[in-house]
Amino acid sequence: MQIAIMGYGVVGTGVAEVICTHAEGLKKRAQEEIEIKYILDIREFPDSPLADKFTKSFDDIINDDEVKVVVEVMGGLTPAFDYVKRCLESGKSVVTSNKELVAAKGAELLKIALEKNVNFLFEASVGGGIPIIRPISQCLAANEVDEIIGILNGTTNFILTKMIREQMNFQDALSLAQSLGYAERNPAADVEGGDTCRKICILASLTFGKHVYPETVYTEGITNITLEDVEYAAAFGSVIKLIGRVKMLDNGKMDIVTAPMLISRDSQLASVDDVFNGIMVRGDATGDVLFYGKGAGKLPTASAVVADVIDCVKHQHARKYLFWADGKPEDVLPFGESFTRLYVRCESDNKEQAFKDSENALTHIKRIYRDGEEDKEFAFVTCEDSYKNLLKSIASLEEKGVTVLSKIRIASL
Ligand code: HSE
Repeated sequence: MQIAIMGYGVVGTGVAEVICTHAEGLKKRAQEEIEIKYILDIREFPDSPLADKFTKSFDDIINDDEVKVVVEVMGGLTPAFDYVKRCLESGKSVVTSNKELVAAKGAELLKIALEKNVNFLFEASVGGGIPIIRPISQCLAANEVDEIIGILNGTTNFILTKMIREQMNFQDALSLAQSLGYAERNPAADVEGGDTCRKICILASLTFGKHVYPETVYTEGITNITLEDVEYAAAFGSVIKLIGRVKMLDNGKMDIVTAPMLISRDSQLASVDDVFNGIMVRGDATGDVLFYGKGAGKLPTASAVVADVIDCVKHQHARKYLFWADGKPEDVLPFGESFTRLYVRCESDNKEQAFKDSENALTHIKRIYRDGEEDKEFAFVTCEDSYKNLLKSIASLEEKGVTVLSKIRIASL
């Protein structure tokens, strides 16, 4: 079967490499040869062994009836959305690693794929090389899954691991991640939580059948996490991780959030370190199932893309069922109503009085200490309450002159 690859960046080169180097194995598994006919990129690659495949014109792909499967690994929405939509409309199956595209336009593209009886597959969009889309939609299909909790971004997990294990501050850890090629040149999507948010939106949409749009999800990154927070978390028996979490509530609303959280060291997620991802899926029949592996990188991501290509080739005439409907903002619980415990770090000239004020404002708080605590500094953990009540109490504390330096959710797992 003839395929086209749109985008020859890190993932695109990985896809081409896997297809060329694993040709025999892929042929066996797809029961047909997989041949690259076009690679779309605006750049020139004259020295590439695939130089004769390159085109700068999307028309070459869309107008070629021999091309039945198109791989989109350009990233971003423009022009990826337009190209993918037109491929599906013209009866070509599409495989993508583009989480931005799936999180923003998944419902619309899945609907077109259903109408045209073609496949739109995106295993690589969450967890890189970790199988997670197919396991949720197929292997765990006998379960009622009510919750997913994931460390979904390798870059931020690397940064936090450096902060926790080597007491490196956030800026130094970010610079190291960039120098090792983990972080994007513009790391905002990683460190401000947008990338994790898109991924948990895709998992929520897939699991609960309604599209969850990233704009409706409360998203907080790790840019304000300090080494002091890391030390207080350790004193509380926890580590700080950037978490994407969704839980289906009895009232039919999704409690979904992206935020740094204190994770108890007893949880398996606490030992997911460095650039690795870990995704815990809670099913009623299976109990907790944990997926672990490399969530990014050229070959892990290419592995997931090429597996989807094989599936498209094998299911040319029998579409794989993968679908969710469009969603509404009301499907998502307003973030202020979600229940959580908080870790709070404060500063005051009179810290003993300030702690008493904190006890009055929040009730049933528990003080925690770290070695080398600053004179003016104190920290505590709260009981579980709605986020809006906790914020209100913390605001009242600030009105009394207490400076609140950090407030981080504590995950109940
Ligand atoms: N920037 C992402 C990460 C790449 O660090 O996990 C994979 O989506």
